[in-house]
Amino acid sequence: MVSYKELGLVNTREMFAKAIKGGYAIPAFNFNNMEQLQAIIKASAETKSPVILQVSKGARNYANQTLLRYMAQGAVEYAKELGWEHPQICLHLDHGDSFELCKSCVDFGFSSVMIDASSLPYEENIALTKKVVEYAHKYDVTVEAELGVLAGVEDEVSSAVSHYTKPEEVVDFATRTGCDSLAISIGTSHGAYKFTPEQCTRDPKTGKLVPPPLAFDVLDAIMEQLPGFPIVLHGSSSVPQEYVDMINQYGGKLPDAVGIPEEQLRKAAKSAVCKINIDSDSRLAFTAAVRKVFAEKPGEFDPRKYCGPARDLMEELYKHKIINVLGSNGKA
Ligand code: G3H
Ligand code: 13P
Ligand code: ZN
Repeated sequence: MVSYKELGLVNTREMFAKAIKGGYAIPAFNFNNMEQLQAIIKASAETKSPVILQVSKGARNYANQTLLRYMAQGAVEYAKELGWEHPQICLHLDHGDSFELCKSCVDFGFSSVMIDASSLPYEENIALTKKVVEYAHKYDVTVEAELGVLAGVEDEVSSAVSHYTKPEEVVDFATRTGCDSLAISIGTSHGAYKFTPEQCTRDPKTGKLVPPPLAFDVLDAIMEQLPGFPIVLHGSSSVPQEYVDMINQYGGKLPDAVGIPEEQLRKAAKSAVCKINIDSDSRLAFTAAVRKVFAEKPGEFDPRKYCGPARDLMEELYKHKIINVLGSNGKA
């Protein structure tokens, strides 16, 4: 048993309380490799932003949980080396799907876990979430739960259609489970194809897809039911057109990729939404930078020469999100 406190990590409790009061959101960035982690930590340290490092089940399988945990521990030291005196870094399990997986992360130094039982019937979601909460809270590890279903397809997370969270269920769910935060469904979805062209309109000038707005009425109704309760948005990448264009220009094929407009996330961040999950945008930045090097310098075979530019572009992306979208700069 390793306590996250020994590793210099923090849970989400205080982060979220401050974020709700201050009208900003904490960035939750997924990581699978060293370059992503370096970019996240540099961006957070330079902007003095609290940050949540997310490890999905897929990341755990790809990179190994032990290695990822030591990388997060190393990230705390790296942040200090960069001049961030009191780093506010949380290590979080993203989309945990069983009690055993959540327990293993709690036992292994994670400071926060998500139990995503949103695909189960309501009472089963409550029972499993409650079981995880009871275990995690013994070690002061915070728990994120989910109600409602997001559309989208990822390695470990998939659903063809979304079902908005029902505001009439949230009080009962939060009370009976004791969860610390609640991920809701209001129209975001995972991946780089958040909406089909049929769900969008087209900008007559640029020909680009314009996605439908998020269901802020559902968010308002949830906040009315649970005043001051931390709300989480998954699937919140914006799918920046510049990265999509770069990927397509240098041999990729991502037609009609579309994300959540940043102004909608900015609006959400000012409300009780205090954690915003971003993964796909970082994947797009990484891929765009690597494709550019490969296209322009076909003789290059030193991974540092293409992973380095990818890391730089991700760092720029993370800083932009922190400063211009979530407003978490200067809060840690
Ligand atoms: O919500 C899903 C995250 O983007 C993680 O995706 O399961 O492919 O690692 P992954
Ligand atoms: P995106 O695919 O929109 O980046 O969402 C990531 C996410 O929700 C991780 O849990
Ligand atoms: Zn997610």
